[in-house]
Amino acid sequence: MAAKFNQDELLRAAQDASARAYAPFSKFFVGAAILTSSGKIYSGCNVENSSYGLTNCAERTAIFTAIAEGADNGKLDIQAVAVVNRDGVPCAPCGACRQVIYEFGPNAVVIYKGKGRTVEQTPITALLPEGFRLER
Ligand code: THU
Repeated sequence: MAAKFNQDELLRAAQDASARAYAPFSKFFVGAAILTSSGKIYSGCNVENSSYGLTNCAERTAIFTAIAEGADNGKLDIQAVAVVNRDGVPCAPCGACRQVIYEFGPNAVVIYKGKGRTVEQTPITALLPEGFRLER
């Protein structure tokens, strides 16, 4: 199925965000960009901490930013997520981020470079079968 969005634009926003990553410990600089149903793009980068476990991934930074900015009139609906490593190495979203993407985008497609080293579009439901959800 043809993409209903501009993949290159989303990847570019993610790449721009990766330049702002704060990753002095891992040196793994990540950027993410999400497209919401109202057509806006929000981006984020990973933010590490001396207390390693407090690190926030790029995907969650982008999503939390969109929430904080009131995206989609307060009902964030993610259509697509792009994730890149600044230096072009493969970077699939971690398990925690898959669950967070699913919360706000059960129909979202995720764009990333996987082990095959080519950029693919994969539905979040393929990356996270049986995502957890409470009735709202
Ligand atoms: N990281 C992300 O930001 N997103 C991912 O999808 C994978 C991992 C970050 C977390 C940490 O700052 C660094 O990459 C190494 O794990």
